[in-house]
Amino acid sequence: MESETTTRVPEKARRLDQLLASCGYCSRREARAWLRRGGVTVDGVVERAPDRRVLPSAVRVEGDPVDHPDGIVVLLHKTVGTVCTHDEGEGETVFARLPERWRHRHPPLVAAGRLDKDATGLLVLTDHGDLVHAWTSPRRHVAKEYVVLLDRDVRQEWVAGFAGGLSIGDDRPCLPARLEGVGTRRARVELHEGRHHQVKRMFAAVGAMVLGLHRVRFGPFTLEGLEPGSWRVATWDGSTPVGAVPGEG
Ligand code: URA
Repeated sequence: MESETTTRVPEKARRLDQLLASCGYCSRREARAWLRRGGVTVDGVVERAPDRRVLPSAVRVEGDPVDHPDGIVVLLHKTVGTVCTHDEGEGETVFARLPERWRHRHPPLVAAGRLDKDATGLLVLTDHGDLVHAWTSPRRHVAKEYVVLLDRDVRQEWVAGFAGGLSIGDDRPCLPARLEGVGTRRARVELHEGRHHQVKRMFAAVGAMVLGLHRVRFGPFTLEGLEPGSWRVATWDGSTPVGAVPGEG
């Protein structure tokens, strides 16, 4: 996989209330009262003015550095029954696993490439809007790999069908995808795009039903070291992954 390196943006001064609200400590409206308590210092001196412009690295909250002021990339191992939205009405959300403060960040953490409620595996959660766009853009071809349980064994003709670009009822066929049978009723699939319910629809197009769907890789990230339900902050080097579709370029 190639990667395209973006230059890290130098630290920028921001209003203190905006910084605290973006990192989930309080809302911008609450910031004045919140700062009055005296728990925030700038260069070691207590600061109570919400409109003070500060460099995030100079700020301490109750003695600790500001919580990920430049945004976060989190890798999470999704379990069955959880949902990738913030709407608790739809079921237990994947965000409920994370520290409470992160659920109040602005912009909010979102999943780059959601998984269905009944699917499991690797989710990339981030509050970097540009990353979500880059990693889900159909033009970037970021690779996603799934292990799938089916209602029947993989047939050899499906492999060629997937590789040739299946039609699944959209205005254009799918990009070429890699399909491999990996045991009884099991398949490994690599896609370079992320359409709604794509894996299930691709198997439906060849007459099979997906009984279990597990994502093992998303771009440069894998599930290595992540137990079901657990998460970790990704060390991300500022680059945006660009995949290569099999058979192209
Ligand atoms: N394809 C699907 O059908 N569902 C997912 O959750 C992800 C890919």
